[in-house]
Amino acid sequence: MNGGKILVTGGAGYIGSHTATELLDAGHEVVVFDNFANSSRAAADALQVAANRDVAVVEGDVRDADALRRVFRGHDIRAVCHFAAKKAVAESFEQPLSYHDNNVVGTLRLVEQMAAHGVKTLVFSSSATVYGYPVSVPITENMPLAPINPYGRTKLACERLLGDLALSDAEWRISILRYFNPIGAHCSGLLGDSPQGVPTNLMPYIGAVAAGRLPRLRVFGDDYPTPDGTCIRDYIHVVDLAKGHLKALQWLAAAPGLAIHNLGTGAGHSVFEVARAFEEASGRSVPYDVAPRRPGDTPVLYADPSRAAAELEWRAEHGLRRMCEDAWRHVAASAA
Ligand SMILES: NC(=O)c1ccc[n+]([C@@H]2O[C@H](COP(=O)([O-])OP(=O)(O)OC[C@H]3O[C@@H](n4cnc5c(N)ncnc54)[C@H](O)[C@@H]3O)[C@@H](O)[C@H]2O)c1
Repeated sequence: MNGGKILVTGGAGYIGSHTATELLDAGHEVVVFDNFANSSRAAADALQVAANRDVAVVEGDVRDADALRRVFRGHDIRAVCHFAAKKAVAESFEQPLSYHDNNVVGTLRLVEQMAAHGVKTLVFSSSATVYGYPVSVPITENMPLAPINPYGRTKLACERLLGDLALSDAEWRISILRYFNPIGAHCSGLLGDSPQGVPTNLMPYIGAVAAGRLPRLRVFGDDYPTPDGTCIRDYIHVVDLAKGHLKALQWLAAAPGLAIHNLGTGAGHSVFEVARAFEEASGRSVPYDVAPRRPGDTPVLYADPSRAAAELEWRAEHGLRRMCEDAWRHVAASAA
């Protein structure tokens, strides 16, 4: 792709900041757009240090058409990576309207403004949660979609919206990436998963326990039908995931229409395996208590990433040990 900048909504967040950094490293111009609801201006500053480049950072909400209009008018945008969303499953049960408003209305407003400004290349952050309880593993892209929580349903609603858009206008180039479980951090330690408040994802929670900021890990169920009784997920290094977005943009340059790809490693690790690997990488202990199962947790989820390998020429490279080492470097750097 030639010329123009890439707008990264949610670019101060965990995956967005890593992707912005990879885009900058690859020579792209980037505009970060974020309302800092779950991040901070400091994270946007850190990504500029990590990439050793200045970046335009715009504070704004993707539901705010005027704010988006100003960005499209003020910058020569040629493509958008859309990360901005709320993502906490439990919270989505308590606040379904807020989730649909933020995630679905936000996506709608964004693509309206993209269309109005003739920008029709989009990479969208979807999630393996759209599969719900999979009929089998590994999960392929054409398995049934039946999300089991409001968050997942907002992602599926966005996928449907984007599908209708692509059907209506052959000029759109849309990549839907269904992420599995991103963990780890940039090798500099400058970027990582630094959510506001108590973490809801496993790795930042483990990191907070290892650093002594939280007392103990709560393991939700150790009686699942898995080798050690804890749930198995497809953990993927966030930098591998970020690189998948560059491959998706390359793919879109040659392929109009809508494409869907799983981004995962194709292998699973249990909660206990992750906690143990983190202890080894950090040299700290991660004490835990076993709590009851959480409703809606599926015992085993992992991707079949072969379509991404064949079409995007993308593969995850980093293993669990490296994910934990990089995550710990970020935790330690944040505490210093
Ligand atoms: N982290 C995961 O495990 C995971 C898995 C699958 C999919 N995803 C998806 O990937 C994307 C990025 O996730 P993340 O882990 O980086 O989350 P994150 O919360 O760290 O980043 C999201 C960013 O979007 C911003 N944001 C939220 N709503 C906004 C709005 N209305 N306008 C502008 N900015 C807004 C937040 O402030 C934050 O900086 C999300 O769409 C999420 O649903 C995440």
